[in-house]
Parts: sequence; structure tokens; C-alpha cells
Amino acid sequence: MKITYHGHSVVSVETVSGAKLLFDPFFTGNSLADLRARDVKADYLLITHGHNDHVGDMISIAKKNKATIIAIPEIIHFATKNGVENTHAMNMGGSFEFPFGRVKMVYAQHSSGYELGSDMVYMGEPAGFILEVDGKTLYHAGDTAYFSDLSLLSEDFDIDVAFLPIGDNFTMGIKDAVKASSTINAKKVIPIHYNTFPVIQQNPQEFVDLLPDNVGKVMAVGETLEF
Ligand code: NI
Ligand code: MN
Repeated sequence: MKITYHGHSVVSVETVSGAKLLFDPFFTGNSLADLRARDVKADYLLITHGHNDHVGDMISIAKKNKATIIAIPEIIHFATKNGVENTHAMNMGGSFEFPFGRVKMVYAQHSSGYELGSDMVYMGEPAGFILEVDGKTLYHAGDTAYFSDLSLLSEDFDIDVAFLPIGDNFTMGIKDAVKASSTINAKKVIPIHYNTFPVIQQNPQEFVDLLPDNVGKVMAVGETLEF
């Protein structure tokens, strides 16, 4: 599979069979993004939680591409109410075999609400995703704090590549992300959720330098890696 980083928590995956998956499609308002929402191609949108910097352009991209949204039921309800036709609701600890591979929704310690005008819409619990695709295992952590149950992931999965937030303030910072990396024991760890806003300014190389040799990798925005 080919994995491309688009800034913040936006990660796209193209499988060997050509399925286009996209995590947390925040393009409009994302100062780092390399694409405009209207140019994005996707078959599946995986949404970790309901904050605006993760839901992002979910509705417009799903409608334009007739993409299927994979998320917790509260986010699916929001999507359906906003006219999205193709959805697949999952909940914590559940996994499902999709045509492109297997997805498990896993815990994240965070919050999840969507700011809509003066309202805060309830969007369920925040999550992460484990994908088993093309014989590889990928983990997108969403916006999580470091917590000890991350160790459950390495009990069940040999993670080839993990995307972990390092921005601090809203999520783990570098120090906790280093602990998380060792807990989940991923072969490759890629930092996300930094430098988008002033309060999450970080030097991602500092994170990589604290990891064992050849584990950490800073992906430039627009960079593609093959796994
Ligand atoms: Ni968040
Ligand atoms: Mn966030």
C-alpha cells in the first residue's frame, strides 16, 4: 500500500487493489494541507472523532466521491443527517472485513464534539483505527493521550506503521508519544498533529531522535511511502 501525509492528522492510503482510504479529511482551514478538498479522491473516509480539525471536509468529500464514511454511530448520524448516503458505523473494540481489508476501532483518550455555530454537537467517543491491509498493519491513533491500555494493541497486532500525535496541548506531546511508541512496538512511527496551530508547534525530528534507530520517520506534507 501507498501512504501519503497531507498535514495535521490527514493520511491517505491507496491499497494494492486501488482502494483509496482517507483518515480525518481536514483540508479547508488546514494551513499545512497540500490539496484542496474539491480535488481529493476517496472511496472510504475513516473519522477518528468529531472535532472540527478531524471531521473537516468529510461531508463534501463523501458526497462528491460517493465515499463510504467509517466512524462511530454518532458521527454517522451527523453525516446521514447532512445528506451522506454511504456509511458504515462501528464502535469501540469492533472490527469488520471491508473489501479492502480489515478495520478495528480502538480506544483513544480524548473528547469528541463538533462545533456547529453556537452549538457543540455530541459526536460519540474518540477512537483510533487499526487497519490490516495488503498483509500490513497500520495504526492511526487519532487525538489520544498516552494511556496504559495502548499496550493491548501490541498484544494482538504487529504494527508495521503507526501515526501518533506529538503536538501536545490537545494530545500527547513528544515525551508521551515516545512512551506510546515503545508501548505499541510499531516498526515505523510517523508523527502527526503538529505545527498546524501555534499551540501545537513541535520539532518532529526531536521526536524521531528520541526513538530507536530507524523507527521514527518524519513525513513531509505530500510525501508518499510504500509499505
Ligand atoms: Ni481532537
Ligand atoms: Mn485534533
